Formats: sequence, structure tokens, C-alpha cells
Amino acid sequence: MDGWGREIKSLRVSVTDKCNFRCRYCMPAEGLEWLGRDEILSFEEIARIVRVLAAMGVSEIRLTGGEPLARRDLPVLVSMLAETPGVEDLSLTTNGVLLDRYAAPLVEAGLRRLNVSLDSLSHVRFAEITRRDALDRVLAGLEAAERHPELRPIKVNCVAIRGFTEEEVPALAELARRKPYVIRFIEFMPLDAEERWAGDDVLTGGEIRALIEEHWPLEEIAAKTSSTARRFRFADGAGEIGFVNPVSEPFCSSCDRIRLTADGQLRTCLFSRREWDLKAPIRDGAGDKELGELVRWAVRHKELKHRINDEGFVRASRSMSQIGG
Ligand code: GTP
Ligand code: 5AD
Ligand code: SF4
Repeated sequence: MDGWGREIKSLRVSVTDKCNFRCRYCMPAEGLEWLGRDEILSFEEIARIVRVLAAMGVSEIRLTGGEPLARRDLPVLVSMLAETPGVEDLSLTTNGVLLDRYAAPLVEAGLRRLNVSLDSLSHVRFAEITRRDALDRVLAGLEAAERHPELRPIKVNCVAIRGFTEEEVPALAELARRKPYVIRFIEFMPLDAEERWAGDDVLTGGEIRALIEEHWPLEEIAAKTSSTARRFRFADGAGEIGFVNPVSEPFCSSCDRIRLTADGQLRTCLFSRREWDLKAPIRDGAGDKELGELVRWAVRHKELKHRINDEGFVRASRSMSQIGG
């Protein structure tokens, strides 16, 4: 339980800060300075932290990056976590470019659902936003996921940027009708490494909803209280759309998440300006009880909310790929 009475149920684990894409809303074209091999937690260290947290009531684990599939042998970690007592929901957020190859081993290792980033269905515009010509590979990755009925739901994340995403909305909405994918639009947040974000760039969920409803009426359906997304189905029932609206409709009051960075720092908010080091204590031989106490202390100090819309907002100390989406 944090200091504001919120129960922490979900841990997002970044397994690497590296990525094979360079999405404009996240990374510069030349990439960032990557962490060194020794700075990154080993699978054993990650599994240990997860075990300690699961024993304290965290039941949902999401693997993120950078690009998590860029970390060698990721299915090995998945199988370690899938077997951890208390872990009820194990999921992955990926850019999808290696999914074609990894869908089968991930399912075999025990992965049960996944979220794939996809910002455009046009080859040219996909390459413009990700700086990689990889649309076909991502679509092949999604198809590979689809061939595994164990992997459901399949969610597709599109970061919505004013002046870019409006044009993508009809095709993405159609994809939600054609395929068993939940298409979700995420409001652009000030987490881009280049610090180009401006309030005017945020294309809100409300605006996108209006664009979709020009063609297809939507009906809201129930979502979990802790969900980042509001869920909608098409009025005729075929397909689901989600809106993750952290800027226009902040959901901090029901946040149940904490994060572990690839270098072993516990972050209690996406916008934290302070981190709690778990790597040093682990490597110095701390016991599970001591680690549990550290986590409890950090969680007690979890931020009330992000302050993106406040005057004098100060950005987080790292960008999205370094934190874990
Ligand atoms: P599920 O709905 O359970 O699949 O998870 P999710 O929506 O948390 O997962 P995903 O990794 O797809 O996250 C979608 C986006 O929501 C992320 O890219 C973030 O931009 C945003 N998000 C996730 N957690 C937080 C959070 O704690 N605060 C804010 N402001 N945004 C978040
Ligand atoms: N604002 C909102 N979402 C972002 N993501 C990456 N950078 C940003 C940003 N600046 C999303 C990706 C991916 C998830 C891990 O984070 O699209 O779906
Ligand atoms: Fe890589 Fe994800 Fe950042 Fe794109 S948003 S550069 S896929 S970490």
C-alpha cells in the first residue's frame, strides 16, 4: 500500500534500455548511450526481485524495454517468471519487429498476452515515425502472435501525435474491426529523449474518438479500475478500441504500478525524479527481508500524480526507453 492508500499490484520490468527502433517520440536518431553489460540486472536478479514483490502482493508483471526482445534469451526469463508463485498475469510490451521469430518460444515459456506498438499502417509513415522500414515485419509479428490462441488479448499501441496520427485513425480503426486486436491510442507524453514534446502535440483520446465516430459509433465498456485505458466497442459489437489518456484524463488516482529499470532502480512513477537502488543492495548480499523493506519504503513515498499539466512541470530524469514504457 502506498502513502496515498493505493494498493500496488503491478510491476513493469525493463529488461534492456536498448532498442532496434528510433521512434521520434522516444529516442534520438543516433540512439542513446546504452548501459554496460554489468550495469544490467541478470535474469536471476530480476527473478529474485519479482519473487520478493510477488510475496508482498504484486501479481502482475509486464516486461518492457527499450525493446525487450532485443535482450538475448528473453523466453528464459519469461519461463522463470511464469513459475514464480503469486505471478498471475505475465505480459510483454514490444515493438513487434522480432515477434515473428519469438512468438512460439514466448508462448512455450508461459507468456499469455502481449502489447505491440504500431503507429502507422503506411510504409512511408511508419518509417518516418520509427526511423526504420519495418512495417511488414511488425505485421508479420502480429500475425505470428495471432496463430497462438494462448496469447490473448493482443493489444496494439499507437502513440497519438497531432499533425501525424489523425490520418492513421481510419485505417487503425478498421484494423480493430478486421483483426482480433484491441487498438489503443496513447496520448503523447513528455518522455521523448529529444525533449521536443509540447502540449500542442498531444492529440487527445477525445479527439480521436470523435474521428472514429464519424464512421463508426462507439460504446464504452467496463475496464478494470487500475486500467490505463478506457475501453470501447463498436456499436455493432465487432472490435475494440482503447484510449490511454494520461494527459487529458490523468489516471494517477487509481495507479497500481511501480517500475524496475534495466539497471535495477525502482521507480514509483513514470515521472519520478528519484529512484531507489535495488541493484547495489542485491549485489552487496542483502536478504529478501531487507529488499522487501526497501521496496516498502519506496512505495510509501510513491508520487501522488504526474504534473504534466502544471506550470513549472519538470521532466523525469530519463526518457521512456530508459525507464521502461
Ligand atoms: P494493459 O492494459 O494491462 O495491457 O497494460 P498497459 O496499458 O499498462 O500496458 P502498455 O505497456 O501497453 O502501456 C501502454 C501505455 O500506457 C504505455 O506506453 C504508457 O505510455 C502508458 N502508461 C502505462 N503505465 C503508465 C503510468 O503509470 N502512467 C502513465 N502516465 N502512463 C502509463
Ligand atoms: N508518450 C507516450 N507513449 C510513449 N511510448 C514511448 N514513448 C512515449 C511517449 N513519449 C509508448 C510506446 C509503447 C510503450 C512502451 O510506450 O508506443 O507502446
Ligand atoms: Fe524503441 Fe519503444 Fe522507444 Fe520506439 S518507443 S524507440 S520501439 S523503446
